[in-house]
Amino acid sequence: MTKKIEPGVLLTGGAGYIGSHTFVALVEAGYQPVILDDFSNSHPVVLQRLQQLTDRDVLCERGNVLDTSFVAGVLRRHRCVAAIHFAGFKAVGESVQRPLMYYSNNVGGLLSLLQAMETTDCRTVVFSSSATVYGDPATVPITEQFPCAPESPYAHTKLMCENILASLRTSDPSWRVGVLRYFNPVGAHPSGLIGEDPSGIPNNLMPYVTQVAVGKRSSLNVFGNDYPTPDGTGVRDYLHVTDLAAGHVAAVDALLANAQSFTVNLGTGEGTSVLGVVRAFERASGRTIPFEFGPRRAGDVAQYFADVSLADSLLGWRATCNIDDMCRDSWHWQQRNPDGYRNSSGISLNQQSGDLAQPKPNDPLLSPIGI
Ligand code: WQD
Repeated sequence: MTKKIEPGVLLTGGAGYIGSHTFVALVEAGYQPVILDDFSNSHPVVLQRLQQLTDRDVLCERGNVLDTSFVAGVLRRHRCVAAIHFAGFKAVGESVQRPLMYYSNNVGGLLSLLQAMETTDCRTVVFSSSATVYGDPATVPITEQFPCAPESPYAHTKLMCENILASLRTSDPSWRVGVLRYFNPVGAHPSGLIGEDPSGIPNNLMPYVTQVAVGKRSSLNVFGNDYPTPDGTGVRDYLHVTDLAAGHVAAVDALLANAQSFTVNLGTGEGTSVLGVVRAFERASGRTIPFEFGPRRAGDVAQYFADVSLADSLLGWRATCNIDDMCRDSWHWQQRNPDGYRNSSGISLNQQSGDLAQPKPNDPLLSPIGI
């Protein structure tokens, strides 16, 4: 029986947190995802974990998305019918310190990808945007019609990229564009094989809490408890990363099926406070999370969470996991990978027993090269 052709989908930054989870979801949906990553903010061990999870060789080409001819070569070699653009810097605070690095990498990276796609006649793209393009909303929940008022260079790069994509669509309607505005991605694949692996001190709440629970950090500093919210702490729309990955598959499916371009929010539609996350994590882990209240963090807003009705009506997508699921899976990942992918020396988990299986010697996937 002839094997069904699996449409190739390029994942720039595909070895990262959201990219790797989307890789798994695309395979399960019958696509052939191809990772393009320079591993400047991800670890090659994730390739072996993906091979274990998907039971197939992982297609990965090591290089920088800013190298347009390299990107075009990858698109051609793997006959990609679409691309999902994850590659980019994403630390809000760092973007304030180093705006030029953020503009050249985040905006330059998208431009390079789009030029490569144009030369290879691949005109279907999903862009990883962010709810931070809304800035501090006047009310919640936030719909896609809300005004965009980015408040950091990072958020400005995301909105700039959205505007570039809108201009491209106007100039050439053959482009099919899906813009996904993420709220707060957290959690990990239920297997514990892949997850969030920030380098250094985590900027974001969930990875910081998991590091307190596993003993790497002594306590959580809660940034402000005087916000106009039910318990005074910041409220956010946390979204399980596997739900977010499913949202990307739904976006690719929709674009390939009917060419209608769109911009949608991806969230749960519910807000959880910092203390709500702490309580949920303590339930999931059975660990106490020591914390103290500190001053507000510059740039933080009191609350934001999504109106997700458009993603439902347009893509047939809704989040399925709640905050308890997110905390359970974050804890499972952190327990099994106390140092993330570092020091794991390719050790992979034997999914049956959950023991740490020994790495295969000279695993080619540990030194990803063009395949
Ligand atoms: C969540 C809440 C903090 C850490 C970030 C990125 C944004 C987007 C989503 C990509 C806030 C509080 C946090 C800590 C705390 N990512 N907090 N102590 O700021 O909503 O958005 O993720 O697009 O770009 O900035 O997420 O996890 O940093 O903060 O009290 O040590 O937790 O004040 O209320 P944020 P976060």
